[in-house]
Amino acid sequence: MDTSTRGTWGSRLGFILAATGSAIGLGNIWRYPYVAGQNGGAAFVLMYLACVLAIGIPVLIAELSMGRHTNLNPVGAIKKLSKSRLWPAVGYLGVATGVFILSFYAVVAGWTVAFVFRTLFHSTVSFGDFLADPLSQIGYFALFLGLTLYVVLGGVEKGIERWSKILMPILLIILLGLIAFSLTLPGASSGIEFYLNPDFSKITGSTVLAALGQAFFSLSLGMGTMITYGSYLSKKENVITSAVAVGFTDTLIAVLAGLVIFPALFSAGLEPTQGPGLVFTVLPTIFEQMPAGTIVGVLFFVLLAIAALTSTVSLLEVPVAFLVDQRGWSRAKSVWILSALVFVVGIPSALSLGAVSGLTSMELFGQTSFLNVMNFLFGDVSLPLGGFFLSIFVGWVWTAAKAKEELSIGADSSSTLLLSAWGILLRYVCPVVILIVLGQKLFGF
Ligand code: PHE
Repeated sequence: MDTSTRGTWGSRLGFILAATGSAIGLGNIWRYPYVAGQNGGAAFVLMYLACVLAIGIPVLIAELSMGRHTNLNPVGAIKKLSKSRLWPAVGYLGVATGVFILSFYAVVAGWTVAFVFRTLFHSTVSFGDFLADPLSQIGYFALFLGLTLYVVLGGVEKGIERWSKILMPILLIILLGLIAFSLTLPGASSGIEFYLNPDFSKITGSTVLAALGQAFFSLSLGMGTMITYGSYLSKKENVITSAVAVGFTDTLIAVLAGLVIFPALFSAGLEPTQGPGLVFTVLPTIFEQMPAGTIVGVLFFVLLAIAALTSTVSLLEVPVAFLVDQRGWSRAKSVWILSALVFVVGIPSALSLGAVSGLTSMELFGQTSFLNVMNFLFGDVSLPLGGFFLSIFVGWVWTAAKAKEELSIGADSSSTLLLSAWGILLRYVCPVVILIVLGQKLFGF
């Protein structure tokens, strides 16, 4: 299929913003603060930064190079680069992971829309009661999935790119404003202490896996999102500098979100370890105390919903591109059928934070509730596992040398040094570290 029917990004900025839009989302503002809170704060933050630099960015470059070289979805890209019948399984794992992550991600994304109204109308329904109400949970989940479907139906340039372009910068400005306010709250300094002053005795195997999983989740890696987005990228672009820009911006937003949350959390005397509800309980306390808090709160949740939307769109785009490229389905048919599937798979997650007690109290792999189990399996395990195989695939099967040829197209000469560092990280550091971290968590070695 030629690229004109598959679609390409309309401009250089378009790609950067769409890839950044995929990366920035609930991962930065919802998941990162509560995972940091559960894993000891500053010690986690350090491990997280190390994972982004040494593993996340190299895998990001690897995915983009595969996508741009083959112009295909993860399954098609792998098939084009190797004759082996086993490797495509990694692509299928990615496609399936997209469906599963979207199934719970869109539930949480639905909360952001609900919080626009809760803030606007000063709702007195408690967060717990809201989570336990099956109708709101399924309703907002369906609404968010519908929005995602609408954007993805529009295709690459008119749908995904146009939406990503407009609102990301506003989110950054609001975050800066919120930090300024949060730091003035009484007791804010103990939050800063928790968030920025590491206590190394708190680092355990679980901390490292949580940091690695969070890096993959936040950078949208390990399931072929960046292969797919790279496949719409023109040969004129410098993949390396684009990857560094995306990685840097995504990390910046997460770190800033922590600076909003932790001072306010400690100031309000709340527990950092409470899990997925964390930001949804802390943020309203900020908006209540803040001058013009209603307006700021509404604006914040609108922007968070949009940030989540540019991520859900990229999650859906992976299986859509797979069906379009590999099965010859139309974009519309793929989008509708996949959305219906995601809706069905997501219902237990939507009902698992209070609505149905069996799903709420279920325990598996040290996680409580169906949604948390899904988040662990597909966020913390499946993404790093996919990243493990992709780093071996690009580093050793397709080979780093061939990937470097692709990467040097559109790059300038100053990238040569970066490219050799990249080759070493991808071939040696990424597979070994991921294997050790996953292995010791799952099998205890
Ligand atoms: N990176 C997105 C976020 O941080 C989530 C995501 C994960 C998107 C995997 C695509 C693929 O919110």
